[in-house]
Amino acid sequence: MPSARIIGTGSYLPPKVLTNADLEKLVDTSDEWILTRTGIVERRIAPEEEATSDLALRAAQAALEAAGLDPVDLDMILVATITPDMPFPSTACVLQDRLGARRAAAMDLSAACSGFIYGLGMADGLIRAGTARTVLLLGAETLTKVVNWQDRNTCVLFGDGAGAVVLRADEGERGILSTHLYADGSKGSLLILPGCGSRHPVSHAAVDAGLAKMQMNGGNEVFKLAVRAMEDAALTALKQHGLEVSDVDHLITHQANLRIISALGQRLGVPDHKVEVTIRKYGNTSAASIPIALDEAVRAGRVKAGEIVLLCAFGGGLTWASSLIRW
Ligand code: UT7
Repeated sequence: MPSARIIGTGSYLPPKVLTNADLEKLVDTSDEWILTRTGIVERRIAPEEEATSDLALRAAQAALEAAGLDPVDLDMILVATITPDMPFPSTACVLQDRLGARRAAAMDLSAACSGFIYGLGMADGLIRAGTARTVLLLGAETLTKVVNWQDRNTCVLFGDGAGAVVLRADEGERGILSTHLYADGSKGSLLILPGCGSRHPVSHAAVDAGLAKMQMNGGNEVFKLAVRAMEDAALTALKQHGLEVSDVDHLITHQANLRIISALGQRLGVPDHKVEVTIRKYGNTSAASIPIALDEAVRAGRVKAGEIVLLCAFGGGLTWASSLIRW
């Protein structure tokens, strides 16, 4: 059975920066509060005329270039997003057309901040089963389009961006070792965008009631659940492969809060120099945060062939996940 190896990475962040000082002018907050509670210094904002596929396209092109592949080589495009261009067609289909990846099947998947690792699990399964040989997987989001700019509990946290990887069937030892995926729908209301679906279809009343914007009900509870769940998922992954925490060369977690990332690193016993951190400059980019951090680590030359990379994520749904990769 072949393994799925990542042969190229790419990312794209829109150039416009929104600083904590900018947010102080919008809501009752302070640079000091945002920095100490979240670690975020600034985040990127997509322009009004750009949608998720615009960011995804640039990340995909960078990943394909790094992989040395042409879009027609792709068998499948998966886009993990909770901010698709529109309910349908999928952002993956929009991307398939814009790339000219005419041989590729295409679909979106919705698992919020865990979406990229869920997508890795799907891509790995498709490649191992022989259904696809070459898969383009993205985490791509424009969360600032669904943020309530009057809600200080959420509007300071999120940013826009896209990250991409190209996976290819490989006969060697390298590739995705495993993915572990989890969900608890009973706590779905903690992180929710309740409107503009079939429950509360688009209407003036739904928009006026604030249902078209993201809500976080209990950030502190989410915080604690996130640390515990990612720790469990990480340890399960290591145990399955008979690996120790000391075998991990890089820990790349979803970037929701610097304190969550640090707490996870400390509980697992992974030293700081092995932990990737991008939240300071990009905020929380949901499904995009892990592939963006991975791409930055790879392009900086920090991730070397044969090293063990541990990915962990937690997000709305609730969903959480881990993955181990031999790079
Ligand atoms: O990506 C998906 C997963 N998401 C997460 O993992 C997010 C997890 N949660 C968190 O990162 C943190 O819980 C937050 C950053 C959201 C909040 O930090 P916290 O330390 O848990 O603060 P808190 O919710 O306990 O709120 C403390 C206080 C409250 O005031 P009172 O009630 O104590 O008077 C909030 O109203 O901070 C207040 N507050 C703010 N103050 C200034 C909330 N947001 C702000 C703000 N500026 N932007």
